[in-house]
Amino acid sequence: MFPATRLRRTRQADWSRRLVREKTLTPDDLIWSVVVSETADPVEPVAAMPGVERLSLGALAKAAKEADALGIPAIALFPHIDPAKKDDMGSEAINPDGLVPRAIKTIKDAAPNVGVICDVALDPFTTHGHDGLLDGDYVTNDATVARLVDQARMQAEAGCDVIAPSDMMDGRIGALREALEDEGHHNTMILSYAAKYASGFYGPYREAIGSAAALTGDKKTYQMDPGNAAEALREVELDIAEGADMVMVKPGLPYLDIVHALADNFAVPVYAFQVSGEYAMIQAAAQNGWIDGERVMLESLMSFKRAGASGIITYFAPRAARALS
Ligand code: PBG
Repeated sequence: MFPATRLRRTRQADWSRRLVREKTLTPDDLIWSVVVSETADPVEPVAAMPGVERLSLGALAKAAKEADALGIPAIALFPHIDPAKKDDMGSEAINPDGLVPRAIKTIKDAAPNVGVICDVALDPFTTHGHDGLLDGDYVTNDATVARLVDQARMQAEAGCDVIAPSDMMDGRIGALREALEDEGHHNTMILSYAAKYASGFYGPYREAIGSAAALTGDKKTYQMDPGNAAEALREVELDIAEGADMVMVKPGLPYLDIVHALADNFAVPVYAFQVSGEYAMIQAAAQNGWIDGERVMLESLMSFKRAGASGIITYFAPRAARALS
């Protein structure tokens, strides 16, 4: 009891605060989400995400070297596809000479020690902007899974280290694992976007990859309802059983309770995706002088660690790594 107990004692100096700190944030915790484009020359700003640019392959090579120098373990790739190459089947998603396989090789050539994570979903490649194949207005499950398997197979073949399905189809983790094993990609990891919510926080991303104008309707028949938490446990349980090596919660900050619940309940690495809308909100407030952007960036990233995340996918990765070193 007070005064024997005074919690402020250990807070009095920087050295004692550091000594008792329960969680730390280091560049090892960061996955850099990068948007790549064939048309960027060499980079193209994304209006809704100040500080984020679509990168040409040349700029991507530089970014990969930068990640390596900063100690960022991995890059997560998101493609901005030329609208002329989109169709309703997302055919470009399985093109072995497409932008994604070329981006994978670009990173591997520039910085062989940086991990490459690829999104598995059709939305950057479809005229309708959905993650799967349509039957009328409905995004079909099983036919989509077959297509995603083709996409992942191509990515693994091109040298991708981690397959990250963000589509939320049922049964896709098992199908992907089986296909990877069959083809000798035993060491290709699967990072499942296990608890991905139908969220308004993805808005700026859809501008970044150019699917905003395309998207018809919403994604509520496949992405999770924001009111659900128990369902996230079921999603993760299934994905682990099907062969996921790591799982993700998305968005991040508005779903910190889910990050915590998953970290508490499963012995699998859990990642949080600090999505485009979260990034945009921090940047907008900082640009207006309403918050200290650097401080809020680091505090938001630390919150994921405190909640139990093994790491964070973030557009802030290079800036955060610089601030931390
Ligand atoms: C879709 C996908 C989305 C994001 C990553 N992959 C958006 C969506 O589901 O519509 C969002 C990333 C972000 O907002 O930063 N497969």
